[in-house]
Amino acid sequence: MRSLIDITDFTTKELEELIELACDIIANPEKYSESCKGKKLATLFFEPSTRTRLSFEAAMYELGGNVIGFSEANSSSAAKGESVADTAKTISCYADIIAMRHPKEGAPLVAANNATIPVINAGDGGHCHPTQTLADLLTIYREKGGFNNLTVGFCGDLKFGRTVHSLINALSRYSGIKVVLISPEELKLPSYIKKDTLKKNNIPYVQTTDLEEVIGDLDILYMTRVQRERFFNEEDYLRLKDSYILEPSKLKNAKSDLSIMHPLPRVNEISVAIDSDPRACYFKQVLNGKFMRMALILKLLEEAKR
Ligand code: CP
Repeated sequence: MRSLIDITDFTTKELEELIELACDIIANPEKYSESCKGKKLATLFFEPSTRTRLSFEAAMYELGGNVIGFSEANSSSAAKGESVADTAKTISCYADIIAMRHPKEGAPLVAANNATIPVINAGDGGHCHPTQTLADLLTIYREKGGFNNLTVGFCGDLKFGRTVHSLINALSRYSGIKVVLISPEELKLPSYIKKDTLKKNNIPYVQTTDLEEVIGDLDILYMTRVQRERFFNEEDYLRLKDSYILEPSKLKNAKSDLSIMHPLPRVNEISVAIDSDPRACYFKQVLNGKFMRMALILKLLEEAKR
């Protein structure tokens, strides 16, 4: 049974086919309005979410399907001690496809190994968030027309920011990609991603703590929130949370066609004064996420038939 647990589960060709399908959905929504008639998506969210859960639900409704699920662990039998494996076996009796968010890294993989229906990882702990990467890829495609020859800056919490981990993997497949890693010392990109993704694919990268020093080099600036929920103590979070705040004055050396991205939710890291700047793309990412999730649901349900 085909699932999406990590962005590495899909080939570059498959990612590009999903982008093509999403673009067709955008151009011809009526063509897809009954594609999932009679099908059910289960959204199993053991952690808070606004965009991912609701965009999955909107995606399924726009495909003519239905949605069941829960939005917090405490309203499921996980609160009584039920395992992820048993939950996945149970939901397989009710639904055709699962989208699962869980605070524990690897929980969606456990679900996929026990379900008899496709499972989509909607974010697992500090590990990865492949469907945010789908949203990010469609956004970059629509803003830049492709993925080659881009200098991409990732700024903020690169240690716990799971969306960064998945997007670096996807972009490392293209030529001419350069990566600029901007973070406090304590929140640097994990070594395994530098070794297994950047070095392995010969992607040139630099690490810095100074956003303004490098902003003029960037085609894309991917801002991230400091992930409070992953910290072991509040004191460290409070010390690091405002390390980077993007304000209009900080864009004075930025390119005129810079794309400013953020997976959202934001806290302080992008001033609302940036929202009206034509370079701000983060609400476009939100919308693109729905179209890519529609494309993904269609792909996995089609493959489940075979
Ligand atoms: N980007 C993202 O995953 O947002 P939510 O946590 O609101 O789903």
